[in-house]
Amino acid sequence: MDQPPRPALTWRGTAVSRRSLLLGLGAVTAFLAIDLGAVAYANNVIGDRFTRQAIIDRFQRIFGLHPGFRRNHAKGVAVSGRFDSTGAGRELSSAKVFAAGTSPVIGRFSLGGGNPTAPDNPATVRGLGLAIGFPGGQQWRTAMVNLPVFPVNSPEAFYDQLLASAPDPATGKPDPDAMAAFLAKYPATAAATKILKEHPPTSGFTDSTFSSLNTFLFVTDSGTTPVRWVFVPRQQALPAGKGDNALFDALVRQLKSGPVSWDLHLVVGTAEDPIDSTLPWPADRRVVTAGTLTLTTIETEAQGNARDVNFDPLVLPDGIEPSDDPLLAARSAVYAASYRLRAGEPKSPSAITVDEVAP
Ligand code: HEM
Repeated sequence: MDQPPRPALTWRGTAVSRRSLLLGLGAVTAFLAIDLGAVAYANNVIGDRFTRQAIIDRFQRIFGLHPGFRRNHAKGVAVSGRFDSTGAGRELSSAKVFAAGTSPVIGRFSLGGGNPTAPDNPATVRGLGLAIGFPGGQQWRTAMVNLPVFPVNSPEAFYDQLLASAPDPATGKPDPDAMAAFLAKYPATAAATKILKEHPPTSGFTDSTFSSLNTFLFVTDSGTTPVRWVFVPRQQALPAGKGDNALFDALVRQLKSGPVSWDLHLVVGTAEDPIDSTLPWPADRRVVTAGTLTLTTIETEAQGNARDVNFDPLVLPDGIEPSDDPLLAARSAVYAASYRLRAGEPKSPSAITVDEVAP
């Protein structure tokens, strides 16, 4: 049955349809259109207790309201390049992106948290969002971080973690009692925290390994395989200098001096491997090297680049399907809510101005 038309939102005086919201305005021109049916503007209710608005409200309570910016991973910079597929990934997935050949990519490096002007801190989680477009009118979007496991395994734990890890105004640090109570409530997070402490971050964005963490199902005519993917860097990072944008500035300098690359490893899971993203898979799982991501340009966030893309992890091509990980549906719902808000708000300049960084 046809859905009734939804009211258009207005953004910079332009009528913004639901379709362009979900595609990202800039991406519409750069990429082939995707099948909107593949995009779940998921239920407002998340898990048993939440609406996506409750999670958005909590972000805003912790980080303040910054109109026009993402409610999480607010500080970022836009990049573009290509994905060169080896063809080896077709063993696991029929997605056309894995056929031998080259696909265009737009992406965004970010730091976690909802403050778009927060000083760079090497301990802050680093993000990489990618949208890979390829023939057939499909896209593969992913938003990854530089962690070996995710600290929580449910939207409820994510919501509680936001409050437990918020700095106490009196000390500037999280309240140790609140953190202890949170970890006692979520033993999976306590276990993941130990793993995270054993894997300190690398020195910069370009030597970071970016992982899906969530499990996905790779599908061919002959079957379905659980897969987690990892983008493994092929270079060292330039040393970070000083200043509030030290990590981003080093990234900008490096990209101004030449391309940077990551190999895409598809980690082949088994039926016994956990979907729970706080749990690592055994280290000896087989890896298929599906190709290489090469980023060639970097731009200040602006209309027409990755600023206006929603790196929804459920925008998947035929041949990749979500697993039952409850984080995935929650992410899709909250990213869409964040996107709808920021697309309708006035824009302020990004803290990272690419032209101002000396090569
Ligand atoms: C329930 C769990 C999670 C919630 C509620 C959440 C929430 C959010 C929100 C609201 C945004 C901003 C979206 C936008 O306005 O475009 C965001 C961005 C992002 N998230 Fe999450 N997130 C969750 C889990 C994860 C996980 C598991 C990962 C990585 C594996 C991740 C990586 C990222 C990245 C890289 C971005 C920035 C993407 C960009 O540059 O647009 N998040 N998240």
